Amino acid sequence: MVDKVRWGILGPGKIAHKFAKGLAVVDQAELVAVGSRSLQRANEFANQYQIPRRYGNYQDLIHDKDIDIIYIATPHPFHYEQTLLCLDAGKAVLCEKPIAIKSQQLEQMIKRSREKQVFLMEAMWTRFLPTIAKVRQWLAEDRIGQVRMVKADFGFRIGWNPTSRLLDLDLAGGGLLDVGVYTISLAQMIYGSAPTRVKGLAHIGDSGVDEQAGITLGYKDGQLAILTCAVRTKIPHNADILGTEGSIHIPSFWKAQSATLRVGDKVVDHIDQPFRSNGYEYEALEAIRCLRAGKLESEIMSHDESLEILQIVDTLQAQWYR
Ligand SMILES: NC(=O)c1ccc[n+]([C@@H]2O[C@H](COP(=O)([O-])OP(=O)(O)OC[C@H]3O[C@@H](n4cnc5c(N)ncnc54)[C@H](OP(=O)(O)O)[C@@H]3O)[C@@H](O)[C@H]2O)c1
Repeated sequence: MVDKVRWGILGPGKIAHKFAKGLAVVDQAELVAVGSRSLQRANEFANQYQIPRRYGNYQDLIHDKDIDIIYIATPHPFHYEQTLLCLDAGKAVLCEKPIAIKSQQLEQMIKRSREKQVFLMEAMWTRFLPTIAKVRQWLAEDRIGQVRMVKADFGFRIGWNPTSRLLDLDLAGGGLLDVGVYTISLAQMIYGSAPTRVKGLAHIGDSGVDEQAGITLGYKDGQLAILTCAVRTKIPHNADILGTEGSIHIPSFWKAQSATLRVGDKVVDHIDQPFRSNGYEYEALEAIRCLRAGKLESEIMSHDESLEILQIVDTLQAQWYR
């Protein structure tokens, strides 16, 4: 591999802009190509970030020989097929969340990554943030005793536009896949195992997607995760991890830049960790670290963890969409 890891971006939409800004502060990375369904959009994006190679289709990007890893930033229903195409072309993949829309798809993607011996990771960017790493450290040090409950909420209210990505069933709209997966991922990270019980109640709106939902996950030993998500209701974005000896509070947990540790009611530790750029640099750094170590997956966001999240999604969707 050359000195810098050479990145390509597939699908230059809203999140791709943020990722490109984050990547710009990563010394070990070079953004060398972008592929869009339209050459004009590829050019516009490339001009903004000084990207040398631009493609008016995804295939040419995927088959560009001088790319090490492709960041897939299209709406979720396309992640499955595009990831397989990249892996088949020998390109490592960092794929936006949710990495697929069904666990069966992800099983195929993981299988292909192993067959082709090519790296694959879900861009669950929250996991790689320094504040979340600190939270994991506090938990590993047993600072709050046994975790009994995780509470996490993530919802916002968008205007009524049934053809927008978030409300369009064909684009896998709805709160669960867009933001609910962050709350599930947090619970999954904390408990480190699959729940034994999964129950949810959702309101399915006029466009056919889950506009808001409450989710309860039950773990062995009676531990719980109480989660909410929404695309048509503004909900505070905080998380609380409640243990037998104390608690951890994470404001805006999905883009966490601070967290507070309490033992009993007393604050005993606090982290304030502003992003170096916009927070997307950390997932890129992890992907680069893994690529350089010759890994097929990250230990921080492993294939099995992504799979567990989608298995929970499958179960909830089966309850909601009959
Ligand atoms: N990590 C985060 O913080 C975060 C935040 C927002 C979204 N996301 C995830 O990132 C993904 C993209 O979200 P986004 O909000 O960036 O989406 P978006 O702007 O609506 O779409 C991204 C790009 O996908 C391409 N695309 C390909 N086929 C498409 C189709 N049939 N309809 C619409 N666009 C299509 C388009 O690029 P071209 O046509 O130019 O190729 C479009 O600009 C989603 O999976 C989402 O969950 C993550």
